[in-house]
Amino acid sequence: MKIFLDTANIDHIREANSWGILDGVTTNPTLIAKEGKKFEEVVKEICGIVDGPISAEAVCTECDDIVNEAKALSKIHKNIVVKIAMNVEGLKAVKRLSKEGVKTNVTLVFSPNQALLAAKAGASYVSPFIGRLDDIGQEGMEIVEQILTIYRNYRFSTEVIVASIRHPIHVVQAAMIGADVATVPFPVLERMTKHSLTDVGIDRFLKDYDKIPKK
Ligand code: G3P
Repeated sequence: MKIFLDTANIDHIREANSWGILDGVTTNPTLIAKEGKKFEEVVKEICGIVDGPISAEAVCTECDDIVNEAKALSKIHKNIVVKIAMNVEGLKAVKRLSKEGVKTNVTLVFSPNQALLAAKAGASYVSPFIGRLDDIGQEGMEIVEQILTIYRNYRFSTEVIVASIRHPIHVVQAAMIGADVATVPFPVLERMTKHSLTDVGIDRFLKDYDKIPKK
């Protein structure tokens, strides 16, 4: 499974990239707004750090405008994937962009039918938001399973990015059911590296090493 970082924070992106496990980055307007810098500046900086798909979101709402905005975003860097919100205007834009070779990530997906339509329109990626479904009492990971089954049934090449991840168990579940990508907030990625028994074990090995006669 590919691991993307779900952030626009440059320090976190640099740090995660240095671990050698990072395959890409996803951003959204909320994440970029937190950084207090210009949109394009942040996206360019991320592209200069991580050599993999970088999602940048279009904010226009009409098909023609989305297409123009997406084309402009895709010119920032060859690795740009344009995030487009899931609705009818978005689908029409994805269809046109897929014919022109612009990579798209259909976002704000909350049902398997939305994901089916996104794949038929030619989306490169689809992003089901599982945490936001969990928040309203619906098991988010269930729709990921349904989407994966549908895509396998009909051999869609659209990749499934499990998004709105809240904790490490979401990542395990995504990997167990064979999701293509998990996009993970930095604090969750940090927690994935840790286990209390690992720390205890390292401490004991270091103490015991000191007891070994050196001559
Ligand atoms: O990738 C989408 C993600 O950023 C949404 O996460 O935590 O705002 O539901 P959240």
